[in-house]
Amino acid sequence: MKTAIIYISKHGTTEKVARMIAEKLSDSHVSLVDLNDNKMPDLTAFDAYILGTPIYAGNPQKAMQHFCNKNADVLTQKPLALFVCGMEENGDKQQQELANAFPENVCQKAVSKQFLGGEFLFEKMNFFEKMIIKKIAKTDKNVSAIKEENIDKLVSEFQQK
Ligand SMILES: Cc1cc2nc3c(=O)[nH]c(=O)nc-3n(C[C@H](O)[C@H](O)[C@H](O)COP(=O)(O)O)c2cc1C
Repeated sequence: MKTAIIYISKHGTTEKVARMIAEKLSDSHVSLVDLNDNKMPDLTAFDAYILGTPIYAGNPQKAMQHFCNKNADVLTQKPLALFVCGMEENGDKQQQELANAFPENVCQKAVSKQFLGGEFLFEKMNFFEKMIIKKIAKTDKNVSAIKEENIDKLVSEFQQK
């Protein structure tokens, strides 16, 4: 089975998580598709899709929203899993961010939807991002909070479809 993990990443963590998922999908032929490099990949070349975007200020990356809106018909015809990367700690808000990140019809068809945590990488942030995160997270040190158990859940639910 040919699986496409289609993602977008600003500071690199969603890309890292996409690679972690790819490594765990042992029974698939996996292609990693970065929407920053390829805005309209040929979806017909794949049998299943996993989509991932980071959350900034409560919202997914616009390129992922655009991609989903353009391709919802094709994406919902085949096995599909969705994930977001973010540092929100409140479980209800994590679920809100996840639900808000993808169009409703795409969400409904997904066999797995997971909040996979994230990282604060200060060397990748611009001046304003550093200011915001220092204030909100009360730290100026890098933090890694990738939820490997949720990655395993996504992979397991996706492989059971
Ligand atoms: C300026 C800024 C705003 C952020 N806002 C949110 C947010 O609203 N919710 C959330 O869950 N995470 C938020 N995050 C955390 C990012 O989603 C996290 O750093 C993620 O790992 C980034 O993924 P990327 O490296 O693929 O871009 C924010 C991070 C920054 C730097």
